[in-house]
Amino acid sequence: MSRIFSGVQPTGNLHLGNYLGAIRNFVRLQDDYECIYCAVDMHAITIWKDPAELRRNIREVAAAYLASGVDPTKSIIFAQSSVPAHAELAWIFNCIVRIGWLNRMTQFKEKAGKNRENASLGLYAYPSLMAADILAYKATHVPVGEDQKQHLELTRDIAQKFNNDYEVEMFPLVEPLILGEATRVMSLRDGSKKMSKSDPSDYSRIVLTDGRDELAKKLRKARTDADPLPEKVEDLADRPEASNLVGIYAALADISKADVLKEYAGSQFSTFKPALTELALEKFGPIGEEMKRLMADPGHVDAILKEGAERANAIAEPIIKEVKETVGFLIP
Ligand code: TYM
Repeated sequence: MSRIFSGVQPTGNLHLGNYLGAIRNFVRLQDDYECIYCAVDMHAITIWKDPAELRRNIREVAAAYLASGVDPTKSIIFAQSSVPAHAELAWIFNCIVRIGWLNRMTQFKEKAGKNRENASLGLYAYPSLMAADILAYKATHVPVGEDQKQHLELTRDIAQKFNNDYEVEMFPLVEPLILGEATRVMSLRDGSKKMSKSDPSDYSRIVLTDGRDELAKKLRKARTDADPLPEKVEDLADRPEASNLVGIYAALADISKADVLKEYAGSQFSTFKPALTELALEKFGPIGEEMKRLMADPGHVDAILKEGAERANAIAEPIIKEVKETVGFLIP
């Protein structure tokens, strides 16, 4: 049986990368799979967060899922902390995962920065909780952006080691689903850095709730080189900023980068950027509007999260029981 699990951190500033790399694919997969989509609030506190802001951001992630087209009557939408199996399985996985494996995680290195001694233990153990998120449901496929690939490889290693250590066939080896032309959207200010929620510059990212003015301004200011767009995709190889904008256009229009270049080869950015702005507005202007409407009605969003938590719990509970029995815990 195939089952999808994925999650987004409620850390605010949901951006175009989150949408094109992940959330849009969540919507597309729900007709073919049983889908479980989470706001990973326990991951969000690995770096201190203001509680009121966290509550708002959890609802924002749920609103983004709904506004993008995740259908709560088909897919499950819930908050991680409301299903105890995540934390329980994460502890068991903490005893499976090797410190050496965690030391290789690039996301930890980036987020902890130079002062590693001062990072939280939670930030270090983050990938173990992520493996628990997925495997608490024995999910088989995980749609994510490119940056999460290493964490999914670790999830496979944890599953494999658990199965070996306890001589069971408990956990599947998950397959990442990294789909589309924009699996790694880069910062609008620096084509060598990925677009991220935590970049201090608002001009580095397009957020889902940006209106016409913000969008137009951010794209106008987006860094580019001075050349017109080339004819061939290969010629974008050493032009990271141009390549990024062409990739965003391709993903939004649902065509290939080559097709974008067929239309825009020879164009200057002064022509291409306004076209991209119009396309972006058309594609996610309505999503931003719907998100704002949903955020103004937290009761509705909370009811969906509550029902989702019940459905998620019903799947995870028997699995965590089976895991506890396997490791030798007594089930009272
Ligand atoms: P997060 O919250 O950083 O990002 C959410 C999703 O958006 C993708 N993404 C991007 N895709 C393309 N270009 C970008 N610039 C970009 N930035 C982010 C991410 O790859 C992700 O799919 N660890 C995860 C959350 C998580 C999770 C899970 C995901 C926790 N448990 C279980 C899948 C399964 C994270 O920090 O995502």
